[in-house]
Amino acid sequence: MAEPRLRVWLARPLFEDVTARLDAHFDVMRTSVEDRYPPAAVAEHLREVDGALVTLSEQIGAEEIAAAARLRAIANVAVGYDNLDLPALTAAGVLVTNTPDVLTETTADFGFALLMATARRITEAERWLREGHWDRWSFDRMLGADLHGSTLGILGMGRIGQGIARRAAGFGMRVLYHNRKRLPVETENDCSRARYVGFNELLSQVDHLMLVLPYTAQTHHVIDAAALAKMKPTATLVNLARGGIVDEPALADALAHGRLAAAGLDVYEGEPAVRPELLALRNVVLTPHIASASPATRRAMVALAVDNLIAALGCGPDAGRPSAPVNAELLKR
Ligand code: DGY
Repeated sequence: MAEPRLRVWLARPLFEDVTARLDAHFDVMRTSVEDRYPPAAVAEHLREVDGALVTLSEQIGAEEIAAAARLRAIANVAVGYDNLDLPALTAAGVLVTNTPDVLTETTADFGFALLMATARRITEAERWLREGHWDRWSFDRMLGADLHGSTLGILGMGRIGQGIARRAAGFGMRVLYHNRKRLPVETENDCSRARYVGFNELLSQVDHLMLVLPYTAQTHHVIDAAALAKMKPTATLVNLARGGIVDEPALADALAHGRLAAAGLDVYEGEPAVRPELLALRNVVLTPHIASASPATRRAMVALAVDNLIAALGCGPDAGRPSAPVNAELLKR
């Protein structure tokens, strides 16, 4: 008798022509909803399947996999995977994969766009104009911070941080960075001759600070009131990573009281909810977690996640060798 086909859950309707490749290997449970799933609905779907392709909106931990006896692989369509409880999934033998590299350049482009919009007050100026306030040209209206000749700080010098650092050369910026580990000198040179500094030096020296580090228990609220107090009051802060890295009430307070000039945020601790105190400020640019959102990149992310899932479940040309495992230790068992 033929072996029953493996089943996978596709949690979102994503690029149907790309996800159609799953059908060659699996019975695919599709959905047409874009809504957030309550935890019980996630658990219900996972109970039935051997693998799942999910986005960062799906929160999966011990509770959601408690009844998922068949589950062996989760392919996250994101480079970040803080939506997944990695220790719980690893303990249950569930291989997790992510989508690095394919989004690096698009995200770095967006980082610069957000930095420029924030430093040069572009959305604030546009809002003001649309509201009909502009009655005469004025010499000192909407003065913003220069990028050229300034010092850019990068907290988290992974692939995206390096992409941002490389772009800084075009603006004649000096680049300082802080990371878990110093990069090799050749990489630093490629990254606009970026200089490694301690965390406190980074905070106090830079004119613009870009957050591109992974979100973990160790990086939770690493930018808190004490860290913000070390920054120049003229500085700009941009968060492209995860909302939980910043203590948002402390940030809103610093922005409201002139202890920080401006912030550009693409991510929020309780997203999609955004704190009212941030919404009320004129000197913060707010975007809805879109740093990797170009059609080509989003498509490439889905394609990589599909390949990861096929390989993680032992099918296709790379059976057993997904290219982006997160808990790779499971592959050695
Ligand atoms: C990621 O990949 O982690 C981004 O935040 C979403 O594209």
